[in-house]
Amino acid sequence: MLVRVLIFLPLVLVAGAPGPTEPRWRFDLKETPSGVVAMQMVVVSPTLVLLLDRQQDDPLQINNHSAWGALWDLSTSTVRPLDVITNTFCASGALLSNGSMVSLGGDPNSFDTNHPINGAGLMGLRIFEPCASPSGRGCTLFENPSTHHLVESRWYPSSIRIFDGSLMIAGGTSVPTWFYNTDPVNTFEFFPPKDKGVPRFSPFLQRTLPANLFPRMFALPDGRIFMVANNQSMIYDIETDTEVIGPDIPNNVRVTNPIDGTAILLPLSPPDYIPEVLVCGGHAMTPDPVSQPASLSSQDEATSQCSRIIATEEGFKRGWQVEFAPEPRAMPEMVLVPNGDVLLINGARTGFTAIAVTVEPKQGVRDPVGNSNSDHAVLTPAIYSPDAPLGSRFCNEHMPSSIVPRVYHSSVTLTPQGNFLVAGSNPNLNGTVTDAKFNAELRVETLDPPYMFVERPIIQRLPRKLAFDTTNTIPVSIPASLKARKIQLALMDLGFSTHAFHSSARLVFMDAKISKDRRSLTFTTPPNGRVYPPGPAFVYLTIDDVTSEGVQVMMGSGRAPPIAE
Ligand SMILES: *[C@@H]1O[C@H](CO)[C@@H](O)[C@H](O)[C@H]1NC(C)=O
Ligand SMILES: *[C@@H]1O[C@H](CO)[C@@H](O)[C@H](O)[C@H]1NC(C)=O
Ligand SMILES: *[C@@H]1O[C@H](CO)[C@@H](O)[C@H](O)[C@H]1NC(C)=O
Ligand SMILES: *[C@@H]1O[C@H](CO)[C@@H](O)[C@H](O)[C@H]1NC(C)=O
Repeated sequence: MLVRVLIFLPLVLVAGAPGPTEPRWRFDLKETPSGVVAMQMVVVSPTLVLLLDRQQDDPLQINNHSAWGALWDLSTSTVRPLDVITNTFCASGALLSNGSMVSLGGDPNSFDTNHPINGAGLMGLRIFEPCASPSGRGCTLFENPSTHHLVESRWYPSSIRIFDGSLMIAGGTSVPTWFYNTDPVNTFEFFPPKDKGVPRFSPFLQRTLPANLFPRMFALPDGRIFMVANNQSMIYDIETDTEVIGPDIPNNVRVTNPIDGTAILLPLSPPDYIPEVLVCGGHAMTPDPVSQPASLSSQDEATSQCSRIIATEEGFKRGWQVEFAPEPRAMPEMVLVPNGDVLLINGARTGFTAIAVTVEPKQGVRDPVGNSNSDHAVLTPAIYSPDAPLGSRFCNEHMPSSIVPRVYHSSVTLTPQGNFLVAGSNPNLNGTVTDAKFNAELRVETLDPPYMFVERPIIQRLPRKLAFDTTNTIPVSIPASLKARKIQLALMDLGFSTHAFHSSARLVFMDAKISKDRRSLTFTTPPNGRVYPPGPAFVYLTIDDVTSEGVQVMMGSGRAPPIAE
């Protein structure tokens, strides 16, 4: 470790240092608080980010009660409450092929006196239809727990959009657990349902107990699903219901709840779209529900190990390649940058997820900080450049530090504007605790990349819908200051952020050329819905590392996903 730092630090300083007048990355703290803790975050329109928390005492009010849903307006940095019926505590979600956002699963308990019975979130299925109002006025979350619900009870599940535009939903627990997954739901189901709604048992989820909550899952360009849970990996074929076992993450490193690291599918590029997955952080340890969590401490150092693999049978033979982030992190999150880099942000240097058990008998992690099982928030993000040589892919030398700790229950997303919205954090049981070190965090920031402060390329017009495997020419404006040596056109799913995982996040580069007069851009869309699952996307044009604002597009037909027999 020490040797690596000594060798590469000077190189990084020479290569990447901005001059005194060059713009830098910076955090920008917003005046308006989020009103609800942004435990979950998903971009639902060019101006709106949907925030979800649990039913508790969040200050934002709606219909005479605390809200646990809200719409953050990116153009005004203000918030609007959203009424939610069921408890979205530790839920998941994704966008469907017709643009509707589906939130699913959640807390078995309902604390909402308006909905004491049907407010439990376990089978929750909440639909946010595409919202045309830039401010979100009049847009609502649809819920009818008696007609619209999951097949299985799922707290801490994961969900992603797959090749036919529907959602695959995996794992979870069916009762409140304090730490490990002691009452697992080791199945997959789909929305809309497949197999007449009969869930599919997963041997992989069974093998990855007791630390397999929020399994990290990725739609591969051949339509199969790569999954990482605990220290194991696997490719699942939805069409044949078979699993191919992959190699373990090296060195005993675990990356899923309650030992959260994070994972991301690196950008896919034509013509081969070779899928590579990077996992970072978590802990090198062996989970043991018998002696733990009592033998763990909020002060246990996380790992800085990152591991990268090509998610194919061929890649499985080569195995994981190990490298190191600038610092250890539990509960980090990785988000794709439109130029193909990865932002590593949030999390803590020590400790674990979950909320400390403060009632007797104390079955939780030792040395809780308030109710936090983690400590030593990491305040400085890092950038990972996938194409740089092994050992010099990470850099945080020029990154700013936030003043806001973002540990358990924090979130982040790339915005359509091209910066990152960062919010949330609340390892405490009750949002009204005010003296805790990691209090309910309502402060909202953006992390603004250097390109936000210079003249940027503009995508002047894009069809609202794009068909797969077509070539299109669109008008663009490219600042004269850019030499246009490097042109990148990114088709991105901005993903759904919850519990140190950005599910469905995807960047597919499209072959693109600018015309001689630099006024138009000709590009080719991905070949099919396996490379980019049909559904909403944002397109960003990056010229010489200066990125345009994103333009929303519907990739594919925009039709609802099929209801299979
Ligand atoms: C949160 O704390 C406040 C003040 O102590 C209390 O009135 C409220 O009932 C608590 N809420 C929950 C959900 O525990
Ligand atoms: C909210 O509470 C006020 C005062 O208690 C009451 O007058 C009003 O009708 C309530 N509104 C709703 C929507 O329940
Ligand atoms: C993965 O974890 C299991 C036990 O949980 C352990 O036996 C195995 O050695 C680990 N794999 C690696 C590569 O560390
Ligand atoms: C999208 O499809 C889902 C599932 O069929 C449906 O519930 C939702 O209403 C549809 N949204 C739109 C905008 O048609």
